[in-house]
Amino acid sequence: MATPSTTVESVRVRVPAKFNLALCVGGVREDGYHPLATVFHAVSLYDEVTATPAEPGVVEIAMSGEGAGLVPEDDSNLAARAARLLMSHYGREAGVRLAIRKAIPVAGGMAGGSADGAAALLACSVLWDLDTQPDELHEFAAELGSDVPFALLGGTAIGYGRGEQLVPVLGRSCFHWVTVMSDEGLSTPAIYRLYDEMVPHPPEPEVPHAMLQALSAGDPEALGQTLTNDLQAPALQLMPELVDVLEAGLQQGALGAIVTGSGPTCVFLARDEASAIDLSGRLSGLGLTRVRRMMGPVPGARLLS
Ligand code: C5P
Repeated sequence: MATPSTTVESVRVRVPAKFNLALCVGGVREDGYHPLATVFHAVSLYDEVTATPAEPGVVEIAMSGEGAGLVPEDDSNLAARAARLLMSHYGREAGVRLAIRKAIPVAGGMAGGSADGAAALLACSVLWDLDTQPDELHEFAAELGSDVPFALLGGTAIGYGRGEQLVPVLGRSCFHWVTVMSDEGLSTPAIYRLYDEMVPHPPEPEVPHAMLQALSAGDPEALGQTLTNDLQAPALQLMPELVDVLEAGLQQGALGAIVTGSGPTCVFLARDEASAIDLSGRLSGLGLTRVRRMMGPVPGARLLS
């Protein structure tokens, strides 16, 4: 139960990044979106959003952390849009300051902006005591963006539609990952446009059955074999240097290597925690910077205070 808004001074929400373990993309729809069959996986790299009250009608954003200077602080920010969406839906005379501490790379294919939108939805609905139900939050999230509902849900889930229709994948296993981030981002719409040119008549997208078996069996070797991303080819065309990064990870013992989402973050699966530590050390030793370890699955957006 939410505390009445008059007594809440601040609300802090932690929200995870995601990988797409599978991203199968169909032909572009009339509304410009692509039908997907994807497997989302939430991982232990988090943005934090702290909401505090402001004068009615005011939505202020203050960014800090990883790539903060690259993100707009105006109403185009997904977190600001989340706050305004709640205000207009509930006709609420409210205001909010949203302090966003970023760790998820900007334009990295890990849904960092969507994560902030999801966190802002949760934070504002508690700050303003809106008593929003989970299915309503999901509707607001889907209105904000295709990846926002998954940032609320977390775990591992199949995404259909444009990614907003979610079916959780149950499993007890924890997987260990190493990522290599890039200094430059890739534009998601540009990657989808290039995909349309490269693959004008794609088949109906389908999640690989073998991946779901590997996830439920908790088998990292089998999972490594089934990682797949239709947007990898366009990402590699725009950033050919990623080919060497993926190859390096496989040579250094990764069980699978893939560009995640619309890129350019490269993701490597390790057998266990010790192997992930070893792999990240080897990749750093090759001179790659921005090498990180993370685990998944983890829960979606959660209140910290
Ligand atoms: O939904 P969201 O605003 O995050 O999508 C960003 C862009 O990514 C869209 O404008 C569209 O160009 C592309 N996209 C797509 N098909 C999807 C999801 C996103 O074409 N299923």
